[in-house]
Amino acid sequence: MKTEMNIAIDGPAGAGKSTVAKLLAEKLSFVYVDTGAMYRALTWYALENNVDVNNEGILNELLKESDIELVNESGSLKIKMNQKDISEDIRSSEVTNNVSYVAKHEKIRKEMVRKQQKLAQKGGVVMDGRDIGTAVLPAAEVKVFLTASVEERAKRRHEEHLSKGLPSDLALLKEEIAKRDQIDSEREFAPLKKAEDAIELDSTSMTIHEVVDRIYSIAAERDGAVE
Ligand code: CDP
Ligand code: CDP
Repeated sequence: MKTEMNIAIDGPAGAGKSTVAKLLAEKLSFVYVDTGAMYRALTWYALENNVDVNNEGILNELLKESDIELVNESGSLKIKMNQKDISEDIRSSEVTNNVSYVAKHEKIRKEMVRKQQKLAQKGGVVMDGRDIGTAVLPAAEVKVFLTASVEERAKRRHEEHLSKGLPSDLALLKEEIAKRDQIDSEREFAPLKKAEDAIELDSTSMTIHEVVDRIYSIAAERDGAVE
């Protein structure tokens, strides 16, 4: 596989983007970049500092003093904010239910996109998010828009919580996911949207490995075509 290739995976919450992107990156020896984790890290920092998630100016100041790192440590991706490991903290329901408000702001998106483009400038990256194919890496060689029904996505999250021994309410999860999708799709700047040249994959009745293999084949095909 040509290592300068970039792979963009976008789609709504719980479609399987991060699971699939991580496995695909391992299979290709590419670097996995979780852009959602970057918005989550800033959201966590804002909540820690009692900053209103609707206040773009103060959030932007906070972002300027934030050193957000994505570090691959023994097979798992660690998220660090000013050297502190916050990988677990950013998955809390408080962060999850506030992140879409932080991600609405134009100044925040501009700075995040700049950081993300820098991470992908040499290629060999699998990046997942909401605006990767449309705004961050519009020239990515492979673009996938991964979807699944909202029922299936809520069920997946529910099972994930239960397997970790966490409390979980399926009906509430479905509501929260639908709400986040709505904010992400309706925002003014770089909304969640399929890029025109992205391949749409509905994973509702696909296993994780079927999705990984499908994207791997698409990448291999593209690789052959550009060589
Ligand atoms: O994994 P999950 O689908 O729960 O979400 P995530 O990928 O961690 O993203 C969390 C939130 O960050 C999304 O709901 C969006 O509001 C925002 N986000 C974004 O606006 N643009 C991206 N490229 C990635 C995430
Ligand atoms: O990153 P995103 O929010 O799109 O989803 P994820 O966190 O990768 O996946 C949500 C959950 O669904 C995880 O627990 C995956 O193991 C599971 N999943 C699944 O059961 N079947 C798939 N085809 C994809 C993901």
